[in-house]
Amino acid sequence: MSELENLCDIMIFGGHGDLAFRKLMPALYFLYSDGYLTANARIITLSRDHMDCSEHIALVETKLQEFLPEGAFEPEKFERFKKQLRLVTVDFTDSQSYKGLKELLNEHPERERVNYLSTSPSFFGSICQSLSQWELITEKSRVVLEKPIGRDLQSSQVINKEVLKYFDENQIYRIDHYLGKDTVQNIMALRFSNRFFMPLWSSDNIDHVQITVAESVGVEGRWGYYDEYGAMRDMIQNHLMQLLCLVAMEPPCSLEADSTRDEKVKVLRSLRPMTPTDIEQKSVRAQYTSGSNGGEAVPGYQEGEGVENSTTETFTALRVDIDNWRWNGVPFYIRSGKRMRQRYSEIVIQFKTVPHSIFANNGACISENQLVISLQPKESIRLKLMNKIPGLSENMHLQQVELELNAPMNNQRKPEAYERLLLDVIRANPTLFMRLDEVEAAWKWTDAIIKGWAANMTPMKKYNAGTDGPSAAIHLIARDGRSWHDE
Ligand code: BG6
Repeated sequence: MSELENLCDIMIFGGHGDLAFRKLMPALYFLYSDGYLTANARIITLSRDHMDCSEHIALVETKLQEFLPEGAFEPEKFERFKKQLRLVTVDFTDSQSYKGLKELLNEHPERERVNYLSTSPSFFGSICQSLSQWELITEKSRVVLEKPIGRDLQSSQVINKEVLKYFDENQIYRIDHYLGKDTVQNIMALRFSNRFFMPLWSSDNIDHVQITVAESVGVEGRWGYYDEYGAMRDMIQNHLMQLLCLVAMEPPCSLEADSTRDEKVKVLRSLRPMTPTDIEQKSVRAQYTSGSNGGEAVPGYQEGEGVENSTTETFTALRVDIDNWRWNGVPFYIRSGKRMRQRYSEIVIQFKTVPHSIFANNGACISENQLVISLQPKESIRLKLMNKIPGLSENMHLQQVELELNAPMNNQRKPEAYERLLLDVIRANPTLFMRLDEVEAAWKWTDAIIKGWAANMTPMKKYNAGTDGPSAAIHLIARDGRSWHDE
């Protein structure tokens, strides 16, 4: 099941950073060993570190052993893979330091060039400028920008403007790795290849939607970054907004990149802006205090490196309203947090109850139908339906049962999000990447809440690590007579 792709040079700026070792190198290792990268494709790490190529290769080997899934590292495969690895020492603030990269790339000027900027966004502009100065941007060049792009609409516009001086919009790939997850792409398959859902998918039949991305881990050593961003900028503005778009968007006219992105941007533009009263009533921000994780005691957020007295939220819950015909009166409740009871991401589509129950008089209680799309760690799609309990009793008794859909994988390895996305960049397919207007529309909507929080319209709540978040999140949905679907 392999297919050889175009000859390419893949540059990873910030290639000795956490993301590069945790996600990008493992993804490239799999693409290479599964035959999706041609044998001559070069993986060029750009880093400030001064080391020779053999030290770099040894470092990559150690990190792959650490971050690849158990049993996936194969010494013979690595022997072949390592021949493609290069290291160029570059100081991103000094354009003179790009000479080595120029020499390397000039060996194959005809190749596709993927520039993956896995650095702080503050370097995006200077890196692009240096690439341009050294004439390293060709028609076959693409640039990949990691999220979050900026801290708000204004800073994101500054960054995008800088990059757009050197690359055309169709050469820019703004990554949101949730879009590379197979289960997330399956939302499109589920909605648009099953006639069954078509007439049901609107306010006529849907009561509300819940989207939860809960993590049991904390900040994982990324204190400097996280404390600047928090849950709203790190998760809601991008991953949760994208999930919401996939659930709420109209059917695109094709799978062509702009058709899908056009529909997503329409959803983002239909989000009802939050007024100060809405911010107070429909948003929750909270920070975790000490508690436990998998039975072990864990410290609170404020006990992390250099974040004492921090006002950064590690949990957010929101009620989102979409002002369009399809979703009028259907709230979307979304929440995401770190150090929660367990790691799970799911989307719950809660249908309305039947208009009239013929079972009401014999005490049978009818639960509403639910479609539960579990994205991770368990991957499943469950449809909850009512069914008669078999038996001869005079009164008909009902129970809720689940129809479960599991994609047969025939023991195949499921590709990681970054494999899919890197391959799409190499193939020049931008469908799963965010267009400029999408990023801006998402910032525009979240900015109002961030500003409201800065003005203290919603007090910061606390929750113990290892729980389902603060009680304020329960009240947020309970106020509307509903409750969270907690696993
Ligand atoms: C990243 C965030 O984008 O997504 C992290 O920066 C978060 O804070 C991660 O932990 C979650 O991704 P996943 O794929 O593990 O759900």
